[in-house]
Amino acid sequence: MTIPEDLATAVDHLKRGLTVVFPTETVYGLGADAMNPKGVERVFALKGRPRNRPLIVHIEGVARLEEWVREIPEEARRLAERFWPGPLTLVLPGRREVPREVTGGRETVAVRVPDHPVATALLKAFGGGIAAPSANRFGRLSPTASWHVRESFGDEAGPILEGGPCPVGVESTIVGFVGERPALLRPGSISAQRIEAFLGIRMLRTGADEEGSSPPGLPGSGESHYAPATPLEVRSPDALWIRVRSLVLRGETVGVLTFSDGRELDGQGGVTALPISKRPSEYARELYAALHSLDRGGFGRILVEAPPDGEEWGAVNDRLKRASHPPGGR
Ligand code: TXA
Ligand code: MG
Repeated sequence: MTIPEDLATAVDHLKRGLTVVFPTETVYGLGADAMNPKGVERVFALKGRPRNRPLIVHIEGVARLEEWVREIPEEARRLAERFWPGPLTLVLPGRREVPREVTGGRETVAVRVPDHPVATALLKAFGGGIAAPSANRFGRLSPTASWHVRESFGDEAGPILEGGPCPVGVESTIVGFVGERPALLRPGSISAQRIEAFLGIRMLRTGADEEGSSPPGLPGSGESHYAPATPLEVRSPDALWIRVRSLVLRGETVGVLTFSDGRELDGQGGVTALPISKRPSEYARELYAALHSLDRGGFGRILVEAPPDGEEWGAVNDRLKRASHPPGGR
């Protein structure tokens, strides 16, 4: 686990406007002092992320929400009190003092309280908010283990606080409070159904997560995101092995992420099966690590057996869709 000296070094980096990498329950974050435009700018530069894609401010507890937000609708407060610390991000009207580098110049700011002992210790020791996207290069797979971060950034991103594998494994659910009704901006491990049952209202489904979908009118829409370097296809259980066989016949090597034990493959060359859990929460926890390791396997293609539909699979299906090639294709 993290030793106090590492924590002190990380705090020192934050205070000097430099970046650090820290674990959260969802994915590892690449963090900077949210009140320091220079630090925030470093995050964008390191990631290669367009400046109009705003960051999430991580805070220590719900008690500090008012430092970032100028207005808290009743439903937002209820969600914060129910689900924080936890994998839920709220987009709320921001205070003027929040640097435009964090919000992309918007009126709103995204805030969450992470549920990870190392993140909590860091936030406590630092004393302020930490603006942090996932610690991956823009558009690539999110990191759920420290080696994923080391592989893409080496030492470039500053100190990496070790926190073991992330227990949730997919990014937080994002709920926006801009119009009259709350809107689901990104599905995550807290399902939309659960939030709606708790609030007793239905959310809008705008799907405005901007790392995944380019704003209209901007070039590069259709670009793939959360994606491995190896082309990835998602296929229904019926179609999966037929597709695998035809690729193998063409001489391709294939890595398959599957619910089965891979028995279908007996005697086939060129194919490696990686089994994954049938339970949505375990699947989510294993997904990015599985894709990272398939991506390193040197395969010509990655095939993924499509999970079922249904809201408990919402976050997983969303990330798979974004990771597929052709982009967005199933
Ligand atoms: O689980 C997570 O949320 C992780 C960990 C590190 O906390 N963070 C994460 O950050 O996934 P990132 O930057 O990869 O995704 C943040 C998303 C982006 O899609 C961004 O467009 C959206 O939040 N976002 C941030 N501020 C926003 C705002 N003011 N309005 C709408 N969307 C916003
Ligand atoms: Mg990300």
